[in-house]
Amino acid sequence: MRKVLVLNGPNLNLLGAREPDIYGTETLARILRRVRREARRMGVRVRAYQSNHEGRLIDRVQALRRRGYSGLVINPGALTHYSYALRDAVAAAGVPVVEVHLSDIENREPFRRVSVIREVCAAQVKGMGPAGYTRALELLARLWEGEG
Ligand code: DQA
Repeated sequence: MRKVLVLNGPNLNLLGAREPDIYGTETLARILRRVRREARRMGVRVRAYQSNHEGRLIDRVQALRRRGYSGLVINPGALTHYSYALRDAVAAAGVPVVEVHLSDIENREPFRRVSVIREVCAAQVKGMGPAGYTRALELLARLWEGEG
């Protein structure tokens, strides 16, 4: 069974309470429950990790191949916009990566329009709210089909 890591960066542990007008009222735990349910239907096993620390996220990305993952879904939070270190880790991940944002980063403050991660990902999903995570899983599944 294919294994996917769903990685969430800084402040995403606060989902549900954090700026609900922008990010909605669902907690991360609830979003992940939904992702897991969808993944089961697809025959994919999901593991999830959230950290507010850049280095911890990088450690997880570096370990993907070693730990037998077939793909990564990542919402890097604000690191999206400036973390070249995370970008380099994603570029070297060795598995397909899909970037997710709950909000539409194209239509917010100017600094959010730039994603330094986008170029090293297979796809970007934005502005779909929590449904973006399951969309990302579907995109990974499509990539695997293309490989096989
Ligand atoms: C976010 C968008 C980022 O700009 C922001 O810093 C986040 C969440 C999103 O999911 O819409 O923390 O990645």
